[in-house]
Amino acid sequence: MASIKLKTNVNRLNGEVVIPGDKSISHRSVMFGAIAHGETTVTNFLPGEDCLSTISCFRKLGIRIEEEENGKIRIYGAGFEGLSEPKEVLDVGNSGTTIRLLMGILAGRPFFSTLVGDESIGKRPMTRVTIPLKQMGVKIDARENGAYTPIAIRGGNLSPINYELPVASAQVKSALILAGLQADGITTILEPASTRDHTERMIRQFGGEIAKNNQTITVQGGQRLTAQDVHVPGDISSAAFFLAAGAIVPNSEIVLKNVGLNPTRTGMIEVLKNMGAELEIISNKENSFEPSGDLIIKASNLKGTVIAGDIIPTLIDEIPIIALMATQAEGTTIIKDAEELKVKETNRIDTVVEELRKLGASIEATADGMIINGKSKLTGGTVSSHGDHRIGMMLAIAALISDGEVILENPESISVSYPNFFTHLNQLIQ
Ligand code: S3P
Repeated sequence: MASIKLKTNVNRLNGEVVIPGDKSISHRSVMFGAIAHGETTVTNFLPGEDCLSTISCFRKLGIRIEEEENGKIRIYGAGFEGLSEPKEVLDVGNSGTTIRLLMGILAGRPFFSTLVGDESIGKRPMTRVTIPLKQMGVKIDARENGAYTPIAIRGGNLSPINYELPVASAQVKSALILAGLQADGITTILEPASTRDHTERMIRQFGGEIAKNNQTITVQGGQRLTAQDVHVPGDISSAAFFLAAGAIVPNSEIVLKNVGLNPTRTGMIEVLKNMGAELEIISNKENSFEPSGDLIIKASNLKGTVIAGDIIPTLIDEIPIIALMATQAEGTTIIKDAEELKVKETNRIDTVVEELRKLGASIEATADGMIINGKSKLTGGTVSSHGDHRIGMMLAIAALISDGEVILENPESISVSYPNFFTHLNQLIQ
């Protein structure tokens, strides 16, 4: 396991970053390209390890996918029927989105497949998908009674279900939508709170229909999807690290270009504003399927805030970096209703608290979130990503305002979602 010395005591960040493609949308673009009819092209695809795992799984399912040098991908789909039984195990690496959405697709395919992932995937709960899929008639089993990888699926004829999701999860919702597209009738899904709706938007983009009424989603099985040209906007969850950095490193001013602004993902913008950050959306592109724009962030004095309730799913992946921002805000920040953090790439309540404490932050874990008292001066120390990309990036931003040497163990995990992260960060350091 490698370790690197991070840049510390930085005076100012200044410049512009073009944010790389959205991870959630990149995964879905490959999946929809594979299940639609015809040649789909994807531009600004994120070449992060997670999305490459999705490409590799679909190739094993018999789909021709070409990767061009400029980040353009071509997928040759022939409908759900174009998928064929894989001869090898499907390895999703570190990617929860790949495994959960793939289960929904494989649910309706009349063949056998096995799904595995890395050590972190092996700890993440799968019953949230295997239970409703079994109700739809899928033969699916996994270690510990359907709970953990490896997973074995023999798909086939699917009955539609009417299902109330026990957790607000876009991955589970999407798996059921993808299974519902293959079921004989109308599938209805009730979400406890709105989660990212990229799957729904992409169904419409590919010529399909899906309805949402309050928190209820309905989708008709047997629809024919048609290949499209998909342009992936930048990932707001990657932009989040520079938004936080711009807000907390003194005298900074950063322009972030091409940031996805889908309202189911923009909770961090609301939190930044509530904390008193100087943030402005300087241009807004209303792409018909996924909105995006450019943002400017300037350093400012932040104040503590409370983050709870329905906003949580709209910023779930940003909580580690929000916790760091809170260490630099006057007063107390309370994050609650975020138990889901415990089942991400790591238990992000524990890993955030453990690592920020090593740098001198005043932060404590609660049953469903954390409490942070600011403002504290961060110090040096040896910290670890725990193999979690977002923990690694959060710590690299923490180092910028730390006094003393900061060593980051296991920085490689960052390439799961942001292979160019350090190149972009170094360009901003003045
Ligand atoms: C994702 C959904 C979220 C998020 C993950 C990506 C997706 O997970 O944390 O990084 O692409 O659908 P849950 O839906 O399980 O909360």
